[in-house]
Amino acid sequence: MVTNQPEIRIADDLSALARAAAAEFVELAREAVGRNGVFTVALSGGSTPRELYATLADPKRPYREQTDWGRIQFYWGDERHVPPGHADSNFRMAYEAMLSKLRIPADHVHRMLTENPNADAAARAYEQELQTQFALENGRRPRFDLVLLGLGPEGHTASLFPGSDALCETKRLVAAPWVEKHHTFRVTLTPSVINNASHVMFLVSGEQKADIVRQVLLGPQQPNHLPAQLIRPESGPAMWFLDRAASQLLSNQ
Ligand code: 6PG
Repeated sequence: MVTNQPEIRIADDLSALARAAAAEFVELAREAVGRNGVFTVALSGGSTPRELYATLADPKRPYREQTDWGRIQFYWGDERHVPPGHADSNFRMAYEAMLSKLRIPADHVHRMLTENPNADAAARAYEQELQTQFALENGRRPRFDLVLLGLGPEGHTASLFPGSDALCETKRLVAAPWVEKHHTFRVTLTPSVINNASHVMFLVSGEQKADIVRQVLLGPQQPNHLPAQLIRPESGPAMWFLDRAASQLLSNQ
């Protein structure tokens, strides 16, 4: 029995997963722009989403021309504590795979300013950016039209890692937790901001993720150990885009 009733979509491989996620991205963008004139998306990092970003920007695929790029406001769900040009930067990955290939107004790209040596100051600056851009009154959370997420091998998502203080943060919009596993600070949206999104899409690929996918979706609720289980959007279940390899332990139950 699936514990958090997510919407699971299984694609043959990473390329097919990227195409399925791209089609959903285009549809959600069309709906949001039609309704509000804008589509606000928080991009995820790591390696899996690179294929999605490249597919969206690919002129040989239909998605690029189906999207009104000038109406999209780009944010990040999390960032490493590095400058934007660093090889580990989530901004750099998305810029190289997608944003650099499209005509996106510079003020539509809201990067986490993680070149700041003080990660908490970078988090507070991003919180201020969200409050300004979403015209938030005190105590209100931004509502992203879409938050993209990945799943780490130990169950983290965004930069919400097992045992982190950020997991139980209920006041701040953006946190800067120390991540012992990587011996570094990260900057991340907090769970309550992610759960306030209109739509959340997980993208998970590869056999090496099959067991953690099973644990998160079918195992007992233990969100402090499996932070991805914290993601329960108020607007409705998260969508999980999995390739066959990552989903292979779901059907054996
Ligand atoms: C990051 C991501 C992180 C990522 C997972 C999965 O900054 O690394 O935001 O949460 O989504 O670690 O990463 P892969 O897609 O590379 O497996």
